[in-house]
Amino acid sequence: MTLILAGLVASAADISAFHREALLERFDRDRDGALDEAEKLALRRTFGGIDVPMLPGKLFDYRSIRLPAHVDSDQLRLADNTPADNAVTDAGATLGRVLFYDTQLSGNNSVACSSCHLQRAGFTDPRRFSTGFEGGHTGRNAMSLANLRYTNVQGHSPGFFWDERAPTLEAQVLMPIQDHLEMGMTLAQVNDRLSGLPYYPHLFEAAFGSSVVTSDRIARSVAQFLRSMVSMNSKFDRAATAGVDYSTDFNSFSEQENRGKALFIDGMDGVAEFGCAHCHIPPTFGMAKALNNGLTLKYKDRGLGVLDRRLNDPFTPSNNGKFKASSLRNVELTAPYMHDGRFKTLENVVEHYSSGIHLHDNVGLAFQDPAPAKGTTGFRFTAEQKAALVAFLKTLTDRQFVTDPKFADPFVRSAAVLRE
Ligand code: HEC
Ligand code: HEC
Repeated sequence: MTLILAGLVASAADISAFHREALLERFDRDRDGALDEAEKLALRRTFGGIDVPMLPGKLFDYRSIRLPAHVDSDQLRLADNTPADNAVTDAGATLGRVLFYDTQLSGNNSVACSSCHLQRAGFTDPRRFSTGFEGGHTGRNAMSLANLRYTNVQGHSPGFFWDERAPTLEAQVLMPIQDHLEMGMTLAQVNDRLSGLPYYPHLFEAAFGSSVVTSDRIARSVAQFLRSMVSMNSKFDRAATAGVDYSTDFNSFSEQENRGKALFIDGMDGVAEFGCAHCHIPPTFGMAKALNNGLTLKYKDRGLGVLDRRLNDPFTPSNNGKFKASSLRNVELTAPYMHDGRFKTLENVVEHYSSGIHLHDNVGLAFQDPAPAKGTTGFRFTAEQKAALVAFLKTLTDRQFVTDPKFADPFVRSAAVLRE
């Protein structure tokens, strides 16, 4: 195998060996620009029975981000959590993409980040709880991964995960790898494993100037990839014009979508505190911090309350039952919903806000009914309002984001091998 590799991989600095053209040139026997099952197996065999990535000859552009006209780029820059020493580069994000999709990051080579964060599902998991490398289940629903770059909203810098336990994206990345249930590796094991794979030396070299694999570099490159995953090309973005006031009706929205928008953004009876956007803040529709939305009176999972943290809101007695939802962009595709995936549909979610709110001690301002009836409360939406809210939420779907090849799986995977 070493001999074949030596022929294929010109030098350690030569990343082109895994370029699409190079691999097709060598393995596409009928020259039709695609690999069939037999050709994919031949490729695998050449590399000793492992999946290898097929990368574009010219790197994808991960650096430039096209913002829609309604987004004020100066405002958005304030929300950008990119650290000064880890700006997104095309080579860095390319490495991050390969790592994100690589099952070699898990103990038994069975699970990648992408196993629980599926592009077609807005980078979340359609299953209520995800399955880890040895078949165990996560305690929470996987989160969608859009717009993680712009989380510093309204002067807050919320942490990552439902309970905000990861202070930075760089720190977050190494957590699932070491999680005994999710991927089950020590950092030393990952570094060792990756150093032995043929495609990494080139990718690390291109991204960081030397082929040495370190967990710091893994963290930085995956964080770069995640920061490049900006989702702002939805019907909402095309409808909102420059300098827009989100309260104005959008010309290209249906009447129903505009009614849903008014409820979401301006709130019930036009009171912003009674609006969804009070907590899910445009343009990312992400949250500034973990809050409580009254799912129950007694949380089995206490969320932020599990951690030893300062009270994040002086008007609440504790941090119990507080969770930070991710950006609601692509929410149509990210079911099931909430930290425990309890709601299967957007209709269920809206019904919760309409009638299912439990007046937990920490519940958000919007829900603090001054004369709480027994049982649950909520905004008491009419059927028409509920349908309008769901219609509005569906305008946040970004089809390009969930099909964009630069965020897609780069590995050549053989169906025959997957069946084994
Ligand atoms: C076994 C399933 C699984 C795997 C594998 C996995 N994740 Fe996750 N991911 C989750 C779950 C579940 C959560 C929510 C966990 C929590 O809040 O406690 C999550 C949360 C996240 C978040 C937080 C998002 C936010 O808005 O705060 C990021 C970022 C993330 N994952 C990235 C990754 C990366 C990068 C990898 C690979 C290195 C990875 N995940 C591997 C299931 C998984
Ligand atoms: C007081 C703040 C607050 C308000 C107001 C609010 N939410 Fe939420 N929302 C949350 C919190 C907190 C969560 C996460 C709760 C959890 O998982 O325990 C959440 C979760 C969600 C989710 C699920 C996200 C996911 O990734 O699973 C959707 C969808 C949602 N909210 C829609 C709405 C809509 C629609 C409205 C208005 C009718 C609204 N929210 C009003 C705080 C709020």
